[in-house]
Amino acid sequence: MKKVIVFGASNSKNSINKQLAIYAGSQLENVELNVLDLNDFEMPIYSIDKEEETGFPKEATAFNSELETADGFVISFAEHNGSYTAAFKNIFDWVSRIDPKVWREKPVLFLATSPGARGGASVLETAVSRMPYQGAVAIGNYSLPSFYDHFKDGKITNSELDAQLKELTVKLQKAL
Ligand SMILES: Cc1cc2nc3c(=O)[nH]c(=O)nc-3n(C[C@H](O)[C@H](O)[C@H](O)COP(=O)(O)O)c2cc1C
Repeated sequence: MKKVIVFGASNSKNSINKQLAIYAGSQLENVELNVLDLNDFEMPIYSIDKEEETGFPKEATAFNSELETADGFVISFAEHNGSYTAAFKNIFDWVSRIDPKVWREKPVLFLATSPGARGGASVLETAVSRMPYQGAVAIGNYSLPSFYDHFKDGKITNSELDAQLKELTVKLQKAL
């Protein structure tokens, strides 16, 4: 069975991006979903000095090992001040030092949401333009605006927005 890694790029316990990523992942059929929580990979802030002095933290190698097992990814990016959360960026920086092709030339669906009307559009744009250089085969990108108006009980409540996401999960399914 194909394995898909799903996570919200946030360390918030109640991450709305984790909720969106799980909902998108749940649209896939006959796959094993592996939902990661960035809190399980908290480690020192990346620095070249730490890398040279003590090598890779065990959390970085553990995250990298998880990525190695996946046939595809669903990532939903939380936006902090227009960019990645510090929690995601730290993991990303460490893991990129182990293998710059972080996403292993596997299909990736890029999502973002926020309580605001732009739905994390800035961080999504950053991820979509960068991640192909880091081994992502981009399947598509999708932003859910005004999360609390459009998502309830684990589902997207607006049928048009829901259909747009489902078009992309079908694309991901085919690419696995
Ligand atoms: C430090 C900080 C900066 C934020 N900056 C933005 C921002 O630039 N754009 C935005 O839409 N929301 C911003 N927000 C609100 C987040 O979108 C909101 O907290 C959202 O719940 C984050 O996603 P998460 O729940 O998956 O962590 C910010 C929140 C924090 C705490």
